[in-house]
Amino acid sequence: MKLKDLKKDFITKLAITYPNEEILSIFKILCEEYLNMSPTKLLLAGEELIDKKQIDMFSKAIIKLLNEEPIQYILESTSFYGLEFICSPSALIPRPETEELVDWIVKSETNEIKILDIGTGTGCISVSLANRNGFVVDALDVSSSALELAKQNAKKNEVDINFIEADIFEYISNKQYDLIVSNPPYIRNLEKKKMQNNVLNFEPRLALFVEDDNPLVFYNSILQFANSNLYEKGSVYFEINENFSREMESLLYSYGFTEIELKKDSFGKNRFIRGLKSLH
Ligand SMILES: C[S@@+](CC[C@H](N)C(=O)[O-])C[C@H]1O[C@@H](n2cnc3c(N)ncnc32)[C@H](O)[C@@H]1O
Repeated sequence: MKLKDLKKDFITKLAITYPNEEILSIFKILCEEYLNMSPTKLLLAGEELIDKKQIDMFSKAIIKLLNEEPIQYILESTSFYGLEFICSPSALIPRPETEELVDWIVKSETNEIKILDIGTGTGCISVSLANRNGFVVDALDVSSSALELAKQNAKKNEVDINFIEADIFEYISNKQYDLIVSNPPYIRNLEKKKMQNNVLNFEPRLALFVEDDNPLVFYNSILQFANSNLYEKGSVYFEINENFSREMESLLYSYGFTEIELKKDSFGKNRFIRGLKSLH
């Protein structure tokens, strides 16, 4: 089969599920991954012969795509903050917004510091931070399968992280940190109806949802932990639900944090907040 025929077949089969632009962009990604063909080379291609093994790979991908499986799970990988991460349904797929959170920390914190990442998932935040000089990182998650994946990602990116399997609602430690970062579950169940099937059917619920009547439950628990385990003048950095930015400011304030700062993501939504612990 020629590449141009493979492409035609790919577009036709996926047309009922995806817009044309998205199909072409997925096709490009798969050509790069399965045929080792760069997007520029692909523009000029068409007559190349694709062997049976390669056709099979595309056929399997089409079945998964028709099932609305996220491309990152199909490829079992994604890039985040310039690094490659193994992806699996054990953990949330790292999002571009979260790269902005990492970047905020990297650009703001220049000293040698001890960091705790709560709800590490794939390890995207902790691995990206541990990759920087001077940052010593612990990473915690309640999910043993997510932690297993995070460990693989730490190994793949050659960083040392101390992993902790624990439930943040029960975790007690006598360790002190200079910085606590978290992108905890923050989507209310009532927001599900706005979400796409590829998220709802494949990504772990444990990573996403909170009860409608207690949307800040994780932040509350993390700030309680910070009460005893964050040095004075230490910082918290959170990714947040854009609908609760004012409530998050008040919450940080009520725990004695100062220099509270909200930050918008690249879509202009209040997506991040940080504060400094200063009790006196
Ligand atoms: C929104 S995901 C964030 C994953 C990753 N840090 C990222 O930014 O892509 C939230 C993570 O919190 C973890 N989690 C959920 N409940 C938890 C709990 N009670 N204690 C600790 N971690 C929890 C989930 O397993 C999941 O990995």
